[in-house]
Amino acid sequence: MKKVYIETLGCQMNKSDAERMLGMLEHLDYTETQNPKDADLLIINTCSIRKLSEDKAYSAIGVWGKWKKNKPDLKIAFCGCVAQQVQKDLFRRAPYVDLVLGTQRLYELPELIKRIENGERVVSCDETPCAEREEIKRVKGVNAWIPIMEGCNNFCTYCIVPYTRGRERSRTPEAILNEAKKALNEGFKEITLLGQNVDSYRSQDAEGKNVNLAELLRRLNALPGKFRIRFVTSYPTDITEELIDTVIELDKVCEYFHIPMQSGDSEVLKKMNRRYDKETYGKICANIRQRIPDVTITSDFIAGFPGETEEQFQHTLDAMSEFELDYSNTAAYSPREKTVAAKWVDKFIPEEVKSERLARLNAHNQQCCLNSNKKYLGKTLEVLVERFDENNGKKVISGRSRNNKMVHAPYDRDITGEFVNVKITDAHTWHLEGEVV
Ligand code: SAH
Ligand code: SF4
Ligand code: F3S
Repeated sequence: MKKVYIETLGCQMNKSDAERMLGMLEHLDYTETQNPKDADLLIINTCSIRKLSEDKAYSAIGVWGKWKKNKPDLKIAFCGCVAQQVQKDLFRRAPYVDLVLGTQRLYELPELIKRIENGERVVSCDETPCAEREEIKRVKGVNAWIPIMEGCNNFCTYCIVPYTRGRERSRTPEAILNEAKKALNEGFKEITLLGQNVDSYRSQDAEGKNVNLAELLRRLNALPGKFRIRFVTSYPTDITEELIDTVIELDKVCEYFHIPMQSGDSEVLKKMNRRYDKETYGKICANIRQRIPDVTITSDFIAGFPGETEEQFQHTLDAMSEFELDYSNTAAYSPREKTVAAKWVDKFIPEEVKSERLARLNAHNQQCCLNSNKKYLGKTLEVLVERFDENNGKKVISGRSRNNKMVHAPYDRDITGEFVNVKITDAHTWHLEGEVV
């Protein structure tokens, strides 16, 4: 049996792609190794959302390339979002790479691996998606990621994703339901539906009926057994009343929305080409909060977008508190080739100002997280146990509540995969503590 090592950078979509790659490779008699030096095939799933993630990809393959001198049969595959961007140009920069595989040619992997095994060097980056394959080797755990749509039509001026993942495409409801059934049969207790904009999910079933995200949730919710359903990411103005109604009605769908705001300033939002202003975003959150008690709403923010003034940055801090965002991913603006904002060089914010704003954004986020966690003191939350740890004689289970809070509780044995009710006794910045009741 040959060995494959897969390194995955970037978002859940890349992690999900890696599970599919591993599934396909097992059929070609590869087993996974955690040690890259042991591998016959090295794969990197790259991310180009920021320069830093792109740099990581190049430095990893740089190291791998050197190993080829002593191991001439070693094969290296460069996949994911950076691959989709650089395509055949990668060979100039990294002549030791054997395969460049774009995001939309994932399912072509088995054929391409055979070709590189025969000594060919191959690039496959066409933007024509190939027919799906069903092999998946999921990372063990309680949660199964299931992509439902891929790509993006929004072209926010800072973002590379529309160029790396192509236009929006939705999978059929049958393919998604089959995948969910399999994951549940394998023992997974939570299904997280993935997409760059999940609310844009639109497909038709075999009978020709239109299926949107709300309808897809209804069909998944009807599957037997106790499990949870989540979906990420939502574009603010695409969240419909019908979707909120389904979240309320369906017992398996969790009270959790990830709705990136990006900036708390309406002028900046306009320049980002986001289709809402501060007030609209606020109304969307208020509506969800009013209709779904104890809902968690998380967000993403960018600090130091070109032209962002100190006052505009303050509006971002204000929005985080005003809309009681429970947690936010944060990043300093990173110019990306091909995107509109990358051309506004004269408006770029100096690196030191960006880092200073990012530090303040992070400090404020921590405060918001702590405030959000404190709301749960004394309340009882249903927790799906993800792990069991024993440290210095202390035995602890950890897992997530329906509203995606990390909860720790003392417990005498490993009950991973079970649901327990935990009464919250302590609130910290990144987690809650409590007792199983
Ligand atoms: N589709 C999602 C976001 C996907 S990208 C949405 O519309 O919200 C994930 C996050 O990366 C974005 O929410 C944004 O906050 C961040 N991001 C994207 N491009 C960036 C850039 N050029 N610099 C810094 N952060 C960026
Ligand atoms: Fe990027 Fe905007 Fe599309 Fe999200 S909606 S993936 S931020 S272009
Ligand atoms: Fe990165 Fe591509 Fe995901 S750029 S964030 S891996 S869609």
